[in-house]
Amino acid sequence: MNLIVTGGAGFIGSHLTKYLIKKGHSVSVIDSLRRGSFENLREIKDQIDFQEIDILDYEKMKNIAKNADGIFHQAALGSIPQSFKEPEEYHRVNAIGTENVLKLAKEFGFKVVYASSSSVYGNQDKFPIKEDAEKKPLNPYGQSKLESEQFAKKYADDRVKVIGLRYFNVFGIGQNPNYAGVVPKFIERLVQHKPPIIYGDGNQLRNFTFVDDVVEANVLAFENKIEHSFMNIATGVMTSVKELAAIMIRLSGLSIEPTYEKARDGDIEKSQADISLAKNLINWVPKTTLEEGLEKIFPKIGS
Ligand SMILES: NC(=O)c1ccc[n+]([C@@H]2O[C@H](COP(=O)([O-])OP(=O)(O)OC[C@H]3O[C@@H](n4cnc5c(N)ncnc54)[C@H](O)[C@@H]3O)[C@@H](O)[C@H]2O)c1
Repeated sequence: MNLIVTGGAGFIGSHLTKYLIKKGHSVSVIDSLRRGSFENLREIKDQIDFQEIDILDYEKMKNIAKNADGIFHQAALGSIPQSFKEPEEYHRVNAIGTENVLKLAKEFGFKVVYASSSSVYGNQDKFPIKEDAEKKPLNPYGQSKLESEQFAKKYADDRVKVIGLRYFNVFGIGQNPNYAGVVPKFIERLVQHKPPIIYGDGNQLRNFTFVDDVVEANVLAFENKIEHSFMNIATGVMTSVKELAAIMIRLSGLSIEPTYEKARDGDIEKSQADISLAKNLINWVPKTTLEEGLEKIFPKIGS
């Protein structure tokens, strides 16, 4: 098949692109290289059609999409702290950019699987969080992802096939510590033999999800005949940031203690996904635990 991955030079998009190439698909990667790096695609650079295009440029995307059978839309701006500084830019790229992808799908009649986020939920009272929970984003990033979902719903009502996957704290090799979550930030500190920095008391609970499982969810959602849904993609297992630091310090072999700093604005206190919908609809179950995933990426430390 001819497939497009937007954000394919980024962390999740590059893993997905490599997987699709391995499965024998032709893949065009659309990425502005604003955050990701072509380095992430180096080992498959001769096997992909790389297009340095901004998803806000509809006409350029149209040129690539006219021959496509489907699109995996991963491109977005993903830093919560930065989203407070540039809310309008987050709205443009994450919401309007997604609308552009949906417009392509409508024009050419293919299916969209795209990255939404657990950040649409904000702080909840009931756990585990089901997909129909009230959406209360705590930051402009989460708000922009919620707006992307509103576009997806609108286009689905117009018979566009679109599945939104709400990822929870994805980790793996190739994450940019400057913009990404806590795992690459801790790794960055540990490789320098410095203690991980915990913001707040470290009791924030997260669902750390290994990138290979996220790739599989994308592919299953694409292949399945289901036309529209939003699904939680997570392990469903809660781990505190304090516990995460302890596991990572143990795996690093260093004898240090984390340091604590003031809590950051817009951070969710507790996050636990109900993942039964993805199991029921696309037969997806996560296969890699946090420890197994960390063990896979830790040999890369210092290399
Ligand atoms: N990593 C996580 O834990 C996580 C959690 C929830 C949701 N998500 C979502 O998953 C998707 C992928 O995240 P990631 O961690 O791989 O992020 P990433 O920053 O590594 O990758 C995003 C890619 O999008 C590209 N991009 C940004 N703006 C663009 C634009 N205007 N036009 C074209 N390309 C553009 C960047 O250059 C980058 O290569 C994003 O939509 C993100 O919001 C990620």
